[in-house]
Amino acid sequence: MNNSLHVAIIMDGNGRWAKARGLPRTSGHHAGVRALRDTVEKAAQSNIHTLTLYAFSSDNWRRPKAEVTALMQLLCTQLPLEAARCEKQQIRLSVIGRRDRLPNPVLQEIRKAEARTRHSNKLHVRLALDYSARDALERAAIHVGQNGNGGFVHALAQAYNASAPVPDVDLLIRTGGEQRLSDFLLWECAYAELYFTPCYWPDFGKEGLAEALAVFDARQRRFGGVPA
Ligand code: FPP
Repeated sequence: MNNSLHVAIIMDGNGRWAKARGLPRTSGHHAGVRALRDTVEKAAQSNIHTLTLYAFSSDNWRRPKAEVTALMQLLCTQLPLEAARCEKQQIRLSVIGRRDRLPNPVLQEIRKAEARTRHSNKLHVRLALDYSARDALERAAIHVGQNGNGGFVHALAQAYNASAPVPDVDLLIRTGGEQRLSDFLLWECAYAELYFTPCYWPDFGKEGLAEALAVFDARQRRFGGVPA
C-alpha cells in the first residue's frame, strides 16, 4: 500500500454519456454530480489525502451560453448539498481557480461550503472552477518577480486561490477517452502517474476509482532515479 495520495481527476464525457442516451448535455452534468458524490465517498475510504476535481476550466467559458448557465446553476444548487454531505463525512471542501469571473451566487455558495467544512480533516476535496494551470503559473511568476524570493509554490497556490500548497499529484485520472492534460495542474503533475480510461465520467464512480488505484499500486515510481 502506498503512502497517502493526492489524486486529481479530469471528469470528462458527461456530454457524450447524455448523447448516447438521447438526453440533453445538461442531463450528463447532473449524472456527473452523482458520480462525483460516489467518487468522493470512495476516496474518503481510500488512501487519499487530497482529491482535486476539474469541474470547469477557464476554457469552458467558450461553451454555448446556455450550457455555461446550466453548469453555474448546477453548482449553485449542488454546492450546499455537497457541503452538507462533506461535513457529515469530515471532508473539507474548497475551490481553486479564479474568483473574479464566477457569478455572485456561485461565489456565495463557495464561501459557505468552505466555511462549513474548513475544520474537516479526513479528506480534502478541491473543486477546480475557472481554473487554468497556465494562468496560475503566469500569475505566480509575476508575483515572485515583483516580490522577490518568496517560495514559488506558495505564490502558485495563492494564484489559484488555494489557502496553502498541497503535495504534488500522485495519480492523475482522465475519464472519457481523451489522453491530454487540458491545462490542469501542470506544475503539480510533474511526476504524476497518468491513468486514462474510456469510461464516461457519469459511469466512473466507486468502481472506477478502485480500479485506477489498483493500477496505480502496480506502477513503479522512480522520480528519475533507479529502482532500489
Ligand atoms: C466534462 O464533460 C465535464 C464538465 C465540463 C463539467 C464537469 C462538472 C461536473 C461533473 C459537475 C460538477 C458540479 C458540482 C456541483 C460539483 P463534457 O461536457 O466535456 O463531456 P463531453 O466531452 O462528452 O462533451
